[in-house]
Amino acid sequence: MTLRLGVVLPTYNERGNLRSMIDRLDQALAGIGWEVIVVDDNSPDGTADEARALAREDSRVRVLQRIGRRGLSSAAIEGMCATSAPVVAVMDADHQHDPALLPDMLAAIESGNYDLAYASRFAEGASTEAWGRPDRVKASNLANRIANKVTGVELSDPMSGFFMLPAQILRADAHRLSGVGFKILLDILATVDQPLRIKEFPLNFAARADGESKLDRTVVFEFLIGLYDKWLGRWIPTRFALFGTIGALGVVVHMAVLALVLNLLGGKFMVAHYPKEVAFIVGQTLAAVVAMTFNFVLNNELTYADKRLRGFGPLMMGWARFALTCSFGLLANIGAATALVRIGFHPYPAAIVGIVLGSVWNFALSSKFVWGKY
Ligand code: GDD
Ligand code: MN
Repeated sequence: MTLRLGVVLPTYNERGNLRSMIDRLDQALAGIGWEVIVVDDNSPDGTADEARALAREDSRVRVLQRIGRRGLSSAAIEGMCATSAPVVAVMDADHQHDPALLPDMLAAIESGNYDLAYASRFAEGASTEAWGRPDRVKASNLANRIANKVTGVELSDPMSGFFMLPAQILRADAHRLSGVGFKILLDILATVDQPLRIKEFPLNFAARADGESKLDRTVVFEFLIGLYDKWLGRWIPTRFALFGTIGALGVVVHMAVLALVLNLLGGKFMVAHYPKEVAFIVGQTLAAVVAMTFNFVLNNELTYADKRLRGFGPLMMGWARFALTCSFGLLANIGAATALVRIGFHPYPAAIVGIVLGSVWNFALSSKFVWGKY
């Protein structure tokens, strides 16, 4: 049979869902030449092993096991690029998406009248009742409204994870997709230049069969970052904006620690009485160390989440390098500000120039020296 459709199933810990999912695909796609590409991110539950076992029974099943990588979007993109089928589909492996829609979606694409077919949880005739997650319905609605603003395309469910399109449309722009988070369809809509002729299919979004959802705080954070990137990222790069915001929070932390120490060493609470100057030196030093550590931890979790340092050794090493980087940044900051004051600048604007310069320096250096491949 000629291969007409490649179905991509991104998986992370879906071992218990896979066999029944492939059975359902087999039934739904009777008479159609298809293959399925399971893109598994080395799931600890052994999903990839299960997929290979299934592939030995049915060679239409293929497996792409990614090591040291995570992410639904990038898994979907790589899966779609790994099939030779002229039409590709992406759907969840947890039975929330009904494979029975696939033949009609395929007919729409093969007719040549549509460039994209997708299943919507919020179209006329669709339902999210069985899902049993009214909280997620609300969140999805909000995300969808924002998504429509961003792309300028009015769809009832641009966050859907169930869609189909000609492989060549996807491949032509695959290198421009962000591949971050869960928003793969949105990504395609926002990236492809030609206006797509879209056909919507109402979906009865089911409850997840086995296991649990992987949409967590990180995914939501990545979604927000993606929005920023689309709006302001051209002018102030996302990473630098994050780095700077965290730096500003660091200043608040610094002041709080300083105030605490000043109070403890002679202020209102009077734990002990020290000369003012000693109290200030102790306070300022402690505050700088705490604020810098705070910045290091937050940048490691957020700004460089994709290159996050883990484990005691790498964290200590990273911290030390960050401290070194920041001390150079501080020198740049003080040097520039002092020079400006000397040539007649008012101290406050001079201080701001120094801070911005120091931050750019810290950012440039730490991205290479702390989180880069050195
Ligand atoms: N390879 C890989 N890597 N697959 C992943 C990853 C990952 O990091 N994270 C999730 N998946 C797979 C899951 O195993 C599942 O097959 C599919 O992607 C969807 O993930 P779920 O964790 O079940 O997502 P959900 O049900 O909470 O989210 C649903 O709604 C989103 C929009 O609100 C899905 O339909 C999403 O596709 C949709 O974007
Ligand atoms: Mn799901």
